[in-house]
Amino acid sequence: MKRLVILISGRGSNMEAIVKAAQAEGWPAQVAAVISNRPDAAGLQFAARHGIATAVVDHKAFASREDFDAELARVIDGFAPDLVVLAGFMRILTPGFTARYARRMLNIHPSLLPAFTGLHTHERAISMGCKIAGVTVHFVTAELDHGAIVIQAAVPVLPGDDAKALSSRVLAAEHRIYPQSVRWFVEGALVWNGEVVSHRDGAAQHLFLS
Ligand code: GAR
Repeated sequence: MKRLVILISGRGSNMEAIVKAAQAEGWPAQVAAVISNRPDAAGLQFAARHGIATAVVDHKAFASREDFDAELARVIDGFAPDLVVLAGFMRILTPGFTARYARRMLNIHPSLLPAFTGLHTHERAISMGCKIAGVTVHFVTAELDHGAIVIQAAVPVLPGDDAKALSSRVLAAEHRIYPQSVRWFVEGALVWNGEVVSHRDGAAQHLFLS
């Protein structure tokens, strides 16, 4: 059984999608813990209701990013994860932290990377007049919102969309590709070729939703 630790900062709907898929599909994996940097993250309640261990490492209690990341790593490592899953975890991570979990930490970012790293992706895509938007699951490196891409999903930007409408269309895609990506990892189906990741059997690493 592979052990997963999922990091959240808020709602936790991606975490929820992963927990549900792991249970429903009988993955060879268990969610060992859900950890939040915010004590009031709604997702913590879902995790607790499902019998998953929860922990809070409040970034406000630390003087520096290094101190916060050191404590976060200590708590994560207490659950001995094979994979760390960032699911709406809204912290910039130090290079020491990302190196510690190299090739065993995934993130989901609501854009078609490398476009629109950082915040406010949907607003920026709309204001640029993009006709296609989407979401990326990728391995985490020291560079923000970079790293080997596991799956990307594309959705249309429709006339009249505001950020809310676009984000809910993208979120539906998130809930499909994040569980799929994590499943591939726990099944050992991802192979590295240099800095690129592929599915062992050539399964499609893209999804188009209309
Ligand atoms: C998701 O849309 C995720 O892609 C985004 O935060 C949201 C979290 O929702 N992540 C980032 O912006 C990371 N840079 P959730 O808490 O319901 O999963």
